[in-house]
Amino acid sequence: MSAAVPMDPQRSVTTTTFRAAKAQGRRIAMITAYDAPTARMVDQAGVDAILVGDSLGMVVLGHDSTLPVTMDDMLHHTRAVVRGTSRALVVADMPFLSFQVSLEEALRNAGRLVAEGGAGAVKLEGGRRTAETVRFVTQAGIPVMGHVGLTPQSVNQLGGYRVQARETADALTLIDDCRALEEAGAFAIVLECIPAELAQLVSNELGIPTIGIGAGVGCDGEIQVFHDLLGMGDFTPRHAGRYAEVGTAIREAVGAYTQDVHDRAFPAEAQTTHLDQRVLAEIKAARAAALKPASGGSLSGGDRGGL
Ligand code: KIV
Repeated sequence: MSAAVPMDPQRSVTTTTFRAAKAQGRRIAMITAYDAPTARMVDQAGVDAILVGDSLGMVVLGHDSTLPVTMDDMLHHTRAVVRGTSRALVVADMPFLSFQVSLEEALRNAGRLVAEGGAGAVKLEGGRRTAETVRFVTQAGIPVMGHVGLTPQSVNQLGGYRVQARETADALTLIDDCRALEEAGAFAIVLECIPAELAQLVSNELGIPTIGIGAGVGCDGEIQVFHDLLGMGDFTPRHAGRYAEVGTAIREAVGAYTQDVHDRAFPAEAQTTHLDQRVLAEIKAARAAALKPASGGSLSGGDRGGL
């Protein structure tokens, strides 16, 4: 694997592009987005694929886990991201309990994300236990991305957000999970928070691309959460890159604006429109006439005295 040639930024990315990228040793860059303007910016920046992650719940909706995210939330934000994207592949996350209850429900919900949301693929968490679902959904024509390692929807079972598969048995289980997902038809697999050596082994064994987050540089691609990467969250996980300090820039800019409003320094001339002097004079004259006290009007004392 090498980081040689980037994908053609002018061409629409599909799951076929993912397969070709792995075959040709081109790394795949993914990022999350949850709204149209962000999707537009990351698409223009040349990212290969955009994940409408259920991290939405934590980084945008203010929940403390991904568990409360609903299908309605995912559909609403997927539509927005698709409206802002013209080139990258949009992958929509299947939220908690949208695919675990039955195969039929999983297919119906995956179908909604594609048909109503406009996503090009869906992602769902879990290894062998979700392989049957991956097969059922892919056989209906919907591309599925797997997700193993730290799977946030199972946070209560995993005992927290921590690195997974550090020991031999867990690592071998994870490899089996990945092979089961590939065999079931997944077009790619997210490897979240696992040791780099294990991620490299998995990437070497699989024919489909691995997309790492907290899994070292040996994966076939990388995904990061937009807000982590740009310094917009309250907390930055260890695996997150920090490419800008947008949170600090926003706080400083809004603080300066607030001060200017308080000081009557904003709006300034540049943001202001003025009336033509003639129009202003006419308006003032009209108002003066309208507000002039009535003299000799209908209820004067003289009139009353005449009754
Ligand atoms: O929801 C999400 O953003 C994710 C990525 C962290 C892979 O699943």
